[in-house]
Amino acid sequence: MKKSFLIAILFAICNQLTFAQKETTIVTLKTDQKAPIINKHIYGHFAEHLGRSIYGGFFVGDTSKIPNTNGVRNDVVKALKELKIPNLRWPGGCFADTYHWKDGIGPKENRPTIVNQWWGGVTEDNSFGTHDFLNMCELLETEPYISGNVGSGSVQELSDWVQYTNFTGKSPMSDLRKQNGRTEPWKVKFWGIGNEAWGCGGNMKPEYYAGEYRKYTTFMPDGLTRIASGASSDDYKWTETLLKDIPLKMLGGVAIHHYAVIDWNKKGADVDFTEDLYFKTMKEALKMEELVTKHSAVMDKYDADKKIDLVVDEWGGWYDVQKDTNPGFLYQQNTMRDAVLAGATLNIFNNHADRVRMANLAQCVNVLQAVILTDKAKMILTPTYHVMKMYSVHQDAKLIPVSFNSPLYTFNGESLPAVSVSASKDKNGLVHISLVNVDAKNKNKVEIDISNLGIKNVSGTILTSSKLQDHNSFDVPNKIVPVAFKGFENKKGKLEIAIPPFSVITLEAK
Ligand code: AHR
Repeated sequence: MKKSFLIAILFAICNQLTFAQKETTIVTLKTDQKAPIINKHIYGHFAEHLGRSIYGGFFVGDTSKIPNTNGVRNDVVKALKELKIPNLRWPGGCFADTYHWKDGIGPKENRPTIVNQWWGGVTEDNSFGTHDFLNMCELLETEPYISGNVGSGSVQELSDWVQYTNFTGKSPMSDLRKQNGRTEPWKVKFWGIGNEAWGCGGNMKPEYYAGEYRKYTTFMPDGLTRIASGASSDDYKWTETLLKDIPLKMLGGVAIHHYAVIDWNKKGADVDFTEDLYFKTMKEALKMEELVTKHSAVMDKYDADKKIDLVVDEWGGWYDVQKDTNPGFLYQQNTMRDAVLAGATLNIFNNHADRVRMANLAQCVNVLQAVILTDKAKMILTPTYHVMKMYSVHQDAKLIPVSFNSPLYTFNGESLPAVSVSASKDKNGLVHISLVNVDAKNKNKVEIDISNLGIKNVSGTILTSSKLQDHNSFDVPNKIVPVAFKGFENKKGKLEIAIPPFSVITLEAK
């Protein structure tokens, strides 16, 4: 017998033993509890003028040989429609507070250029502007979420932008829109009032920003969802100040941004990472639970009826850029680590659906934790794409609260909750349960009592691979794809599920 074969057998036996010794975690579905609808906008995306997100990613121009519709890649549109993306945030990010929308309308040859100061100092030719974005959202059947420029813009500029995109009657801006070829307004509902006002959006103090927010939104019509530029991670004072200083009726949502970054100066590799790095990334990612809990608690003090949305409009993993790529373009590969990160984060959002009503993964194409990567005419779907697709069943479904004590994932003497779960019931009565095992080495076994749900059939889908570092590449685009999951047994209404290490599962019960 070959030595490697023997080692593999020993490894399998040890694995089984660990599994056998591990206790089963009992997950209770609290079907009797009042629960909110999981807002589909939790599954939103983000497209900034950054690196190859817009140019090359979404947009190739209508003279490109890559199949396109008015310059927008057909392959990307098809993939995102299949994902049912509910909203798309644009044009930034940090870029938003440098963007003057009037530079991006009218004949392309007349559009001025600007320097993209935050992202590589490249020249932005404004060939993708308001019409291109909003028409693309129509193609994608998604809601646009526009981030206005507060940092270097003006109240008049933002007010004009709203009038340009939304006004039906006759006005200077609607006339200009018609002159540029669009008769009907697009009716953009979601408006961000600046971005990261505490940093690249103007280095403001929260009190100062609250004043700016009040001024800017005064000149925007009612009926829009106006979203305040929110805190970075655990800056609860920022959220508190906004809630205190801004009349509640002026606030549609308050944002927060949180990236799973282990060290801003040394983020670590996107693919060739160790378990140590994986553990640290997951520790940062799972902080989202504490962040949304505590920001929600601050909001509850001022808005007990939970009228204002908590909008996590930037989240995801952030690593060192791929070798030989522009450091300002934030291009990274996407592995099983990202799939686990996405599944666990979406479970947190689902379980906090009473307050978290919108979120945007950063970013959609070719930037950070992308769902799509492109290389000229080629396009691949990342493991994160597949998780978002598996989880799309929760969009606008009724949350089923869960309770359980997670087993631990221990590494180097530190522990994290290993299992994460969320569940919902959709309009057709289908129950979906999403489970993630964060543990890099051990399976975890859970039991869920579904006997009172009147369920006859259960089926499942799993995303997993043999190594955490596995990913899809342009050469092997389908190394990681969801497959049917058979690792469960329905024992008289008690579902026993064995979740392999670093895997994401969605069960459908009907
Ligand atoms: O997503 C990349 C950048 O991260 C965004 O532009 C900014 O808002 C955040 O700091």
